[in-house]
Amino acid sequence: MAKQQDTFKQVIAHAKEYGYIFSSSEIYDGLSAVYDYGQNGAELKKNIKEYWWKSMVQLHENIVGLDAAILMHPTTWKASGHVDAFNDPLIDNKDSKKRYRADVLVEDHAEKINQKAQKEITKARKRFGDKFDEAEFVNTNPRVIRYKKEEKEILERLAKSLTEENLADVKDLIEELGIACPESGSKNWTDVKQFNLMFGTKLGASADSATDLYLRPETAQGIFVNFANVQKTGRMKIPFGIAQIGKAFRNEIVARQFIFRQREFEQMEMQFFVRPGDELKWFEHWKETRQNWHASLGLGEENYRFHDHEKMAHYANAATDIEFNFPFGFKELEGIHSRTDFDLKAHEEHSGKKLQFFDPEMNKNYVPYVIETSIGLDRMFLAVFSSSLKEEELEGGSTRTVLKLPAILAPYKAAILPLVKKDGLPEIARELMEELQWDFNVSYDEKDAVGRRYRRQDAAGTPFCITIDHDTKEDNQVTIRHRDTMEQKRVPISEVKNIIAKEVDFRTWMQKGK
Ligand code: GAP
Repeated sequence: MAKQQDTFKQVIAHAKEYGYIFSSSEIYDGLSAVYDYGQNGAELKKNIKEYWWKSMVQLHENIVGLDAAILMHPTTWKASGHVDAFNDPLIDNKDSKKRYRADVLVEDHAEKINQKAQKEITKARKRFGDKFDEAEFVNTNPRVIRYKKEEKEILERLAKSLTEENLADVKDLIEELGIACPESGSKNWTDVKQFNLMFGTKLGASADSATDLYLRPETAQGIFVNFANVQKTGRMKIPFGIAQIGKAFRNEIVARQFIFRQREFEQMEMQFFVRPGDELKWFEHWKETRQNWHASLGLGEENYRFHDHEKMAHYANAATDIEFNFPFGFKELEGIHSRTDFDLKAHEEHSGKKLQFFDPEMNKNYVPYVIETSIGLDRMFLAVFSSSLKEEELEGGSTRTVLKLPAILAPYKAAILPLVKKDGLPEIARELMEELQWDFNVSYDEKDAVGRRYRRQDAAGTPFCITIDHDTKEDNQVTIRHRDTMEQKRVPISEVKNIIAKEVDFRTWMQKGK
């Protein structure tokens, strides 16, 4: 636990030191759970967006993009269920005065029990080596069986109480499990209450005539209300999808996990419209497609797991989370939901407009069913950033800090380094930089000894350093150094562009996931 906290602190400190993430309005001491992306962070974020957008829109003939407004007609949120049901159950600790999400307290407790089971499995794997049969061990070891049963019972009871809105039982559960305030250790809890997460605002100049609005809590509804516009103007045929990247706002009760849970964040969502009855087939399809997308980035298979929902959102008939091993443990990174025809039907009812598709093969109109893939851009950023940050021991006992970002996502693809600031080397370096910058984001660095510059670029996540030395003037060759292996190779200056292009080729990266 202490190690996890240290790692997390290092991630936050590194993100600040290298211009990735700052607290919002930091000179005024920041704003809780709101962050700004710095010069490198803005680039990494843009590259993640592009990687997602290209894989969704460019590679799918039947998926198109959308950029809907953040402010929407207030009836949208009545229809979607957010006004009545977009609540989190909160609980206060009377002694520490800290506020928590009651469901998260219980889930974290259940996760601790799961970790005990995992420990037994890891121990047994070590003991039995190659002969270890994990499935058999999990099904027969009494301790693992007990832990798994305990975890399952807790999560099932929580799901039941939440579905039935039985908040008194959620409090009973917290007390029965002996859950204490993580800050103070006190078990002196208030009752559990519901808290609506939407941010309200006003449209209009004068206080009396202003209309109450909400900042959108998800981008999905911008897609649903535009279903008919896009379908007709794009002549889209079922099955088809609409993808969108944009800001969402939630007045989160507990927001203490850096960019993991923010009050202003971005989502990358895609709603895929299908024939009623086909939805579970497409649900499996999108689970696999999204898993492949994640695998393509090489963040480590062991860092991902699927978590099928016990408690479905009010609109879903199947739902799974893709969880990632963040510095504070496995948590939701992406949700894949089979949302049925809930949203389109609700918007039909509230707007009086038809949101249907005429299926020529079936010769009938219907309200399509929807599969949604929804990933938090900031969470993806944190997944990429935290899993890439490494402290490595080098030969000779020294260490280096290196940010092994996937090259396709790295803010700068290469740094151009003249060995010295004289003898015509900066001129050659500048010429190379001017050639490369048409195709890639590249940086120029001539300050300090070259070894220090390599370390600086390693820590900033730049995958390649290109050094121009005195021999370059004679043989037109430069040294290209790979961040991850620290290998150095002499190559003709004319080859540099091709070498980098190959390393950041979209097709090559995407195909790694298959
Ligand atoms: N349209 C469905 C929807 O919004 P969600 O599970 O509430 O579903 C989808 O959110 C994704 O948005 C999550 O998997 C997560 O990655 C991201 N997300 C949700 N709340 C967030 C927050 N407060 N801060 C950062 N990301 C968040």
